[in-house]
Amino acid sequence: MLIALGVTGGIGAYKAVEVCRGLQKHGHDVVAVMTRSAARFVGPVTFEAITRRPVITSQWKPGINTRLRAERSDEASTEPWRSRGDIEHIAIADGIALLLVAPCTANVIGKFANGIADDFLTSLYLATRAPVLLAPAMNSNMLAHEAVQRNLQVLAARGVGFVEPGEGYLACGWIGKGRLAEPPEIVSAAVRALAPADSLLRGRRVLVTAGPTYEDIDPVRYIGNRSSGRMGFALAAEARRRGARVTLVAGPTRLAPPAADEIVRVRSAAEMHAAVLGGAEGADVVIMAAAVADYTPADPASHKVSKQDGPLTLTLERTPDILAELGRARPRRASGSPILVGFAAETADVIPRAREKRTRKGLDLIVANDVSRADAGFDVGTNVVTVIGDERQREVPLQSKERVAAAILDEVEDLLRARAAAPARA
Ligand code: CTP
Repeated sequence: MLIALGVTGGIGAYKAVEVCRGLQKHGHDVVAVMTRSAARFVGPVTFEAITRRPVITSQWKPGINTRLRAERSDEASTEPWRSRGDIEHIAIADGIALLLVAPCTANVIGKFANGIADDFLTSLYLATRAPVLLAPAMNSNMLAHEAVQRNLQVLAARGVGFVEPGEGYLACGWIGKGRLAEPPEIVSAAVRALAPADSLLRGRRVLVTAGPTYEDIDPVRYIGNRSSGRMGFALAAEARRRGARVTLVAGPTRLAPPAADEIVRVRSAAEMHAAVLGGAEGADVVIMAAAVADYTPADPASHKVSKQDGPLTLTLERTPDILAELGRARPRRASGSPILVGFAAETADVIPRAREKRTRKGLDLIVANDVSRADAGFDVGTNVVTVIGDERQREVPLQSKERVAAAILDEVEDLLRARAAAPARA
């Protein structure tokens, strides 16, 4: 989606470069709109290089690429550029999915609140119907001033979103509230603001596990499995796209995890157990896509085990079943108990075994996965699954794991909808 990133004249303007990159990492296209004073803090060329688009620095000159041409044509006749500049802010206003301003100064907040449109950014604010998200940054006394507070209230009442400024050292030498929020926080808020308005996952806390676990035999050897983490990563990315606050607990994977609100890296089933139990507190949905080891060496060696002539016997002990534990804890929890989703990786009797697991572990949904197929399951980009709930079963045909993730989350949303309709049963 196309995002207009407004950059105004504050010392935090340099952080907007990182915000821009973060938005791009989420697959968004960014057009930078800089106020005149922002261009004194960061060069428009920086944004032009990153966004690979002309940066809009003036209402009359649509971009620095064209500035020279514009200026030349200004000498001849200013009118063509004036009219094209006018049209451009309307075209951009219509084309963007979000107007994000970071940092947003007290001056621009005041103009937005009062409908003053004296440059491209302030005109864009009035012209667009896209959601607006502001990351204010200013001196703490300015932020606390009644005039600024009133303007912020006016904007909030109009539906404008904010990324709260943080506390810390301010450029003016003071310590207090007013520092621009950190770029990852701004990017997360932007991604949430872009979520489909009707998604029930918007603002919910979702915990997803992904990847294998490694159970150490000694300092150089371990027992692992073929899980790549792809399915869990696709679920985490899709949940985030729908506006959820995502905690991703990831085992050791070669693939880089997608952006999430929190990423907890673990190695063993025991570490995953601790991370999930901690993260499940306050979660609305827990999806265990990880291939957790069922057994771990009972007595891992502290030194490398040397070979001997005879066979080697390794004693393995059971790991805690994380999902079953969450399932068991449910009756004790109040209505806030999370929706539990498990995966059943099977090679035979797929559906009956998955159904049995769902009941045994006390889950809401189980995703049955026939891992004997070459095009599904471990370490491939596609999957074919059956999502089994209490009263329904949905076949999800062979497709990319990203699309399978969307189908699974559709089922989760249906459950959330049903819970909202019948709170007494939740
Ligand atoms: N799981 C878990 N903790 C474990 C093992 C598995 O939470 N120690 C979760 C997995 O993440 C998955 C689901 O349980 O979502 C099913 O895992 P699977 O290994 O297929 O189930 P098991 O109950 O171990 O079944 P089996 O007897 O077939 O090994």
